[in-house]
Amino acid sequence: MTTVLDSSFVLRPRVASACSCLVTPTSTPSGGPYLNQLMKSQGKLWFGTAADIPGTDETTDPAYLTILTDPKNFGEMTPANTMKFMFTEPEQGVFNYTGSDYFLDLAEKSGDLVRCHNLIWLSQLSPWVTEGNWTAETLTAVMENHIKTLITHWSDRCYSWDVINEALAGNGSFSSSIWYDTIGPDYFHLAYQFATEAVEATGKDIKLYYNDYGIESPGEKTTATYALIKDLQSRNIRIDGVGLESHFEVGGTPSTADQLEAMQGYIALGVDVVQTELDIRFPTAPYYNETGQAEQAQDYYQSVAACMLVGPHCIGTTVWDFDDYYSWVPSSFPGQGGADIYNDTLQRKPAYYAIAEAIQGLPCTVC
Ligand code: XIL
Repeated sequence: MTTVLDSSFVLRPRVASACSCLVTPTSTPSGGPYLNQLMKSQGKLWFGTAADIPGTDETTDPAYLTILTDPKNFGEMTPANTMKFMFTEPEQGVFNYTGSDYFLDLAEKSGDLVRCHNLIWLSQLSPWVTEGNWTAETLTAVMENHIKTLITHWSDRCYSWDVINEALAGNGSFSSSIWYDTIGPDYFHLAYQFATEAVEATGKDIKLYYNDYGIESPGEKTTATYALIKDLQSRNIRIDGVGLESHFEVGGTPSTADQLEAMQGYIALGVDVVQTELDIRFPTAPYYNETGQAEQAQDYYQSVAACMLVGPHCIGTTVWDFDDYYSWVPSSFPGQGGADIYNDTLQRKPAYYAIAEAIQGLPCTVC
């Protein structure tokens, strides 16, 4: 493989306060290729990233923010946490918009679209929801109020909403959740019906998505997702797209052909697809040897290539944060890491250059 280095980049310690050294370099990679610029030149809406802002070190890290807010790099930002239920409705009927407003302001100042994430999920719920004593009727009212209030509040500052996140288990049945266990399978179409009503009331074009992992290649869960989309359509309920999370493992990433086939299935139903949370983690250390880097580059290449090859209805690719230092992987998958396209000192990895080549339809020189 060819090792690609940013000659303009000066290594920067990420935990400056941990030492009293005089080294305070803040330079970031400059010079192309730029991934959002390339995606747009190919007719896509964006190359995007999640960011866990506000409330984390990302919020005030100048080197991180320089990369994040440069429209050449990113054209979409997804809030990694701040719009989730536990933060937006911490007490029943009491909504907190502060963190999300901060995020939206930053995204808009950077010229980014925002995929608002998410309304109804089994995780990161407020305790009053998970500990409440609900009937199907009372919990449906909670769901309706949450969905309608947030969609109405931010209106088309949200390009799209992930209305339901991760509803399905690996075999394609609904996962156990407070929503499913209390309301039953109807909770699914009801959530989209409430979202449709809210969008219609705004008079804006706010896209409604279903977002999940394990639906990026053919299989039981993908087939079940097709059925959910068809069910909404048969009820005349709005569904604009499917978010393919794309949390993959190095060496375990679906082939381009498989990702293409799954995408073609969604698109044939008349919806768009987005790679919404792409990252490709190493199941074990080391994360930075040359062979591993090339393998990871290949996995990123073959994933982004699917979005490029499938045509205009794959509207963009978003990574789930862009550097290993702030990646969610080490805390959620102990022992695993190195999943992102910049390393933990904000240097571009071979995976970054592989994506640039995939976007342009060039052979991968770093794989
Ligand atoms: C993750 C965040 O990145 C973490 O900070 C948080 O602790 C847990 O959730 N699928 C999703 C995202 O749809 O919302 C999750 O985000 C990652 C998996």
